[in-house]
Amino acid sequence: MKPDSIFSLSEFEELAQTCMSSMALNYVSGGAADELTLKANCEEWKRIKLKPQVLVDVSRVDLKTTVLGQPMQLPILLAPTAFHRLCHDEGEKATIAGANQAGASLVLSTYATESVETIAAAAMQPLWFQLYAQNDREVSRALLQRAEQAGCKAICLTVDTPVLGARNRESRSQFQVPADFKLPNLAFDSAAITQRIHHQDPLSPTLTWKDVEWLRSIATVPLVLKGIINPGDAVRAVEAGVAGIIVSNHGGRNLDTLPPTAEALPRITEKVRGKLAILVDGGIRRGTDVLKAVALGADAVLIGRPYLYGLAAAGADGVERVLEILKTELKLAMALTGRTSIGQLDRTVLWD
Ligand SMILES: Cc1cc2nc3c(=O)[nH]c(=O)nc-3n(C[C@H](O)[C@H](O)[C@H](O)COP(=O)(O)O)c2cc1C
Repeated sequence: MKPDSIFSLSEFEELAQTCMSSMALNYVSGGAADELTLKANCEEWKRIKLKPQVLVDVSRVDLKTTVLGQPMQLPILLAPTAFHRLCHDEGEKATIAGANQAGASLVLSTYATESVETIAAAAMQPLWFQLYAQNDREVSRALLQRAEQAGCKAICLTVDTPVLGARNRESRSQFQVPADFKLPNLAFDSAAITQRIHHQDPLSPTLTWKDVEWLRSIATVPLVLKGIINPGDAVRAVEAGVAGIIVSNHGGRNLDTLPPTAEALPRITEKVRGKLAILVDGGIRRGTDVLKAVALGADAVLIGRPYLYGLAAAGADGVERVLEILKTELKLAMALTGRTSIGQLDRTVLWD
């Protein structure tokens, strides 16, 4: 399969069905319970309509932006997702190669199947590290410092997963982390992780705002909270002095019937815009979705499943192609709405 014969992210999703094991596919594509939030995440972006401005010179459209003071070539990052070797033998090494080819940043998961040092050495754009805080603070501290020493430019603390959600599809397919997988950022092996997942062992049930303040005090790079949906929590994040938040419902994988992120985002930006960086993920599948998210006040978006499907279908080139498709679609959407830079995207581009 030649990635350039694929023209949309949904085609990659279809293709992935033919090249992933059913266990891996169920793990990646599934959500929590009835998967209502998972579905709504994609649908809600589509419901928002655009208001174009005509007769604007759009011969040059620029996607460059700055997030957390870091220059980015495009307002799209790869969200942290676990176990890339489930999708491709080269795992995160292929992912970072694809991200490099497209000029995008990756947020590396704590549950990566490659070490943070290996991926940081390969990254050509700022690499961020996603932290699942561990019950033992010293283990969390060591992980954070290891990521910083490797060269990660931000730490995204996941705050929406004190326990894993009721993932029926994943359980039905008896998900297991294959025994030969290494999880080099953690002290435990794949069997221990499978055990955690099956026995619903809580990940970090004791994590509170006190720990956020502690992590912020020891971090030397910006701390971002991933998994904010409640506008009140966004205000609390500002008070805690973190550098940013990711508006996210974990791709509909944890608590079903949470609102889609397209609905939560404007309520959050209304309260905290300008006080910290705001990113959003969940259901972003088209360049128009990216444009709408930025128009609603996000500094950037992240994508999860789409690049995993690209990775499964064609390794690094698949990841690159997924990003290139979104980039092209975003540029077209900007030109067709009469906008030439990311800074020009605000609510006036939305049909009110
Ligand atoms: C297979 C898979 C694994 C994930 N693993 C993690 C993870 O290790 N840490 C984390 O914070 N979020 C994880 N997420 C959530 C993503 O970071 C992101 O919030 C979500 O995928 C965005 O939604 P989308 O898939 O619709 O783009 C995972 C998501 C998927 C699909």
